[in-house]
Formats: sequence, structure tokens, C-alpha cells
Amino acid sequence: MKIKNICCLGAGYVGGPTMSVIALKCPEIKVTVVDLNENRIAAWNNEDLEKLPVYEPGLAEVVREARNRNLFFSTDADSAIEAADMIFIAVNTPTKTYGEGKGMAADLKFVELCARQIAKVAKSDKIIVEKSTLPVRTAETLQTILDRTGNGFKFEVLSNPEFLAEGTAVNDLLNADRVLIGGKQTENGQRAIQSLVDIYAHWLSPKQILTTNVWSSELSKLTANAFLAQRISSINALSALCEVTEADVDEVANAIGTDSRIGSKFLKASVGFGGSCFQKDILNLVYLCRYFNLPEVADYWEQVIVLNDYQKYRFAKKIISSLFNTVSDKKITFLGWAFKKDTNDTRESAAIYVAEHLIEDGAAIHVFDPKVSEVKIKADMKYLWELKGLSDHKIELKLKQIFVYNTPAEAMDQAHAVAVLTEWDEFKGYDWEKIYSNMYKPAFVFDGRNILDVKKLTAIGFEVKGIGKG
Ligand code: NAD
Ligand code: UDX
Repeated sequence: MKIKNICCLGAGYVGGPTMSVIALKCPEIKVTVVDLNENRIAAWNNEDLEKLPVYEPGLAEVVREARNRNLFFSTDADSAIEAADMIFIAVNTPTKTYGEGKGMAADLKFVELCARQIAKVAKSDKIIVEKSTLPVRTAETLQTILDRTGNGFKFEVLSNPEFLAEGTAVNDLLNADRVLIGGKQTENGQRAIQSLVDIYAHWLSPKQILTTNVWSSELSKLTANAFLAQRISSINALSALCEVTEADVDEVANAIGTDSRIGSKFLKASVGFGGSCFQKDILNLVYLCRYFNLPEVADYWEQVIVLNDYQKYRFAKKIISSLFNTVSDKKITFLGWAFKKDTNDTRESAAIYVAEHLIEDGAAIHVFDPKVSEVKIKADMKYLWELKGLSDHKIELKLKQIFVYNTPAEAMDQAHAVAVLTEWDEFKGYDWEKIYSNMYKPAFVFDGRNILDVKKLTAIGFEVKGIGKG
């Protein structure tokens, strides 16, 4: 079946960029991205491309070319669903914060709502593509809802998990290592797979397009994220050992990474991984393993999260102990709040948890991030404290310990310590001599990303502490 009309439910970090690239590369296909969030859609339609809701290098150019040609952003989901031959579901699947599976399982309520809406509105057969990251066997649930609540039309459910990383989304989409498409092993299933293969074949070669059964595809996404996060927790675990033995974690990473069986990527020790995916997807994997009565497997993967929490806590503890065992009323400057560079996304950012520990110890946290606003930073902390059950009054008081700036100089002026939480390139090029002269002495730098020139900073007079450096 030749696809002429695509609808995508969810205009977030995945739906927005993936559909923009599909529209760019397939000008003969009309692509409509819809969302319940009116503000988000308005931002996608903003004339000023600087104001798109997702910041990704190269994305504005893609949107400029395709938007209002064959790429449309709308809140009218029903019309878009009705017109589409193929519907992508790219809605959020966060960790459940209530009820059965709270804190572990993926919350599939948004996905289920999509299936019910599609079934209700559809007036023809459709291919439904799971783009969201979902527990293995979710396609079965979707199929049941579509078949039982629909109006007798045929729905073919495919799994097509997204592997893009934020900050490099456009490049990852244009030059994907692979795309993965899972479908039923029936004639209709294979035909549906082929329709999606034909879309990606506009810019990817056949060997970059893998096809599998639905369950393998669903599980491969959780597995990929678990393996990637596991590498970070492994090197972070070793960073703690490096700090007490004078081994250097970057040297160790380089030494093992040059073994082609290990490979060099994802071995950068850090203050801990963040982002909306790793923790959520591993917790989901752990939950699934427990559900299928595989406790040893569950415990194995859970350690990746345990170690990551330890790493964030260890970083905060190091700041407190270095500053003579108290940060009460001290100005600690955070360079960076985003969970990694080149994105405005802060979900599960290590900065949030490090800030929490330090604020608990009485610190004043002064933040500068090139892409993250004060509103977002305060909302992140408020959300965490609400989840922990703090009263409104307590939250108000704690929020008074956070200050956000538009320039790095103001953020670091008269600081007791600077902590690098995100690896933004611009931090490396700052005038560190000037920063030093405006800080309390001894002036501490805690480099949670190992990006700064330690020799240079030490020569200026800073006390520098990196991750995994003796
Ligand atoms: P997001 O929160 O940025 O976007 C999801 C959007 O879906 C929101 O704007 C929300 O309003 C909208 N939505 C919810 N229910 C809806 C409905 N019924 N109809 C229309 N819109 C609806 O989330 P995201 O980061 O884009 O992630 C989406 C999915 O992709 C998740 O399952 C995630 O695990 C997966 N994923 C994310 C990344 C990433 O880097 N962010 C990478 C790969 C996979
Ligand atoms: C991840 C996966 O990489 C991507 O394939 C999937 O689709 C979504 O989840 P993302 O979370 O956007 O992507 O970014 P990623 O580059 O994986 O970084 C995740 C976190 O790990 C960041 O906080 C990053 O700073 C940290 N990280 C990454 C390290 O600490 N060390 C590394 O070596 C690599």
C-alpha cells in the first residue's frame, strides 16, 4: 500500500523531529502532527523558528523547508486520523506515579487513549505504528482495543521504535545506524511492514532497515537503552574506584575502549545519566522481568539505576565534604541544567538531584544554562518535591534557595564553588581567570563532565575536582 497521508499523535521530542524529517524526505506524503497541548502546537507553528518547542541543531532548517508544504502541526486530531493511511503513536510513556507498578511500570494511559480515539474516528483501514517506547507485547493490547472498539475496519499494528538521541536528533534521523520495523508474520503484516520500509527507503539504504517480528522490535528498544545505560553505570562505578586509587577514569576508558570488542562510545564518566528514556525504560524492563517471574534478571538491570543514583549522590557529597562539610548559605553555581548538551530538555537531569541534595544541606543554588529557563528549572524542582510529598509551604521555602541567571558571569560572581552539570561547549571557553578573581577563596570547581582544562584551572588557583580523577 502506498502511503499518501500520515498522522502522528504526539508533537514532542520524538514526534516533532521524526515527522519533520519524514516530511522533508517524502514531499509527496502529507504529514500532520497533532497534539493535545495547544501551546506546543502553536510553538511548532511559530513564524520565529527560534521558538520551536524542541531545540535540536538543524531542526529549524528542516521545519522551514517542509512546514506548510507537506508538514502540518494541528490540534485537530480527529480530522488528521480520519485522513491518514498510517498513524504514528509518539505520545509520552512515563513511569507510573500511581497504583499498580507505581515508580516502575510504564504508564500506558496516553497510548491507550490514542488507540481508542483512532478506533472511534477511523472510517477506513489503517496502519498503526508504535513510535513510543513500549513494554514488549503492547501491540497485542493495541490490537485488541482497535478491533473491539472500532467500526469494523482493519488495523495493522507495527512496532517502529525510535533510536534518536536528543541534541543530535536530526543527524540521527538522517543518518540512522538502522531503523527497526516489527510486524506480524502474516501477509497483511508483511504488506504493512513494506509500506513503512518504502518511507524510510526515501533516504536510507535497505541494509539500514531491519525487519523483525513485533515482540523482538518492542523488546529491542528497551534492550538498547538498557545496554547503553549499563555502559555509563559501569564506567561511573569505576570512576569511584579511580578517585581512591589515583587511576584516571578517562585513561581507563580510552585503554579499554580501544579494544574493538568493547568500543569507545558511551564510556564517558559523568555525574550520572539523565534524560527521559534511560531510567524509565530500565525501570520498565525491571518491572517486566519481575512480572514474568525472573527476579535475578530484574535485579541485574536494577543495579544500573542504583549505581546512577549513587553517582549523583556521590557528586553532591563530594561538594559538601570539600567545602568543609557544609554548604549552608554558600553560593554554589551550576553551569548547565539540561541533561546533556545541545538540548533544552531537563527531564531526569542529574542537576535536579544534585541540587536537591545540596539544597537539603542549606546551599543556595545559582544556575546558568544557555537553553533552559528559570521557569523550567523551578518547575523541575517543584515537581520532584511534590512527588516526595512536601507541603506547598516547604516547597515555596526551598524554591527561594534557587537563583537563575541569563549570563554565566552573574551566576558565578561571588560563588564559593562552580559545578559543571552539563557538558555545553561554551563552558570550556570562559575567561576562567576573571571568574577566579570574582569568587570566594579557596575557589572550587567540580567538573561533573570532565570537560575543563584541569592544568590550566589549577595554575590559575582553582581547586579542581573531576569525576574519576584521583
Ligand atoms: P514528549 O512528552 O516530549 O511528547 C509527547 C507528546 O504527546 C506531548 O506533547 C503530549 O501532549 C502528547 N500527547 C499525549 N497524549 C496525546 C494524545 N492522546 N493525542 C495527542 N497527543 C498526545 O515525549 P517524547 O520525548 O517525544 O517521547 C515520546 C515517546 O518516544 C516516549 O515513549 C519515549 O519513551 C519515546 N522516545 C523518546 C526519545 C527521546 O529522546 N525523547 C527517544 C526515543 C524514544
Ligand atoms: C538515549 C539513547 O541514546 C537513544 O538511542 C534513545 O532513543 C533515547 O535515549 P538520550 O537520552 O537523548 O538518548 O541521550 P544520550 O546521548 O543517550 O545520553 C543520555 C544520558 O547519558 C545523558 O545524560 C548523557 O550526558 C549521559 N552520558 C552519555 C554519559 O554520562 N556518558 C556517556 O558516555 C554517554
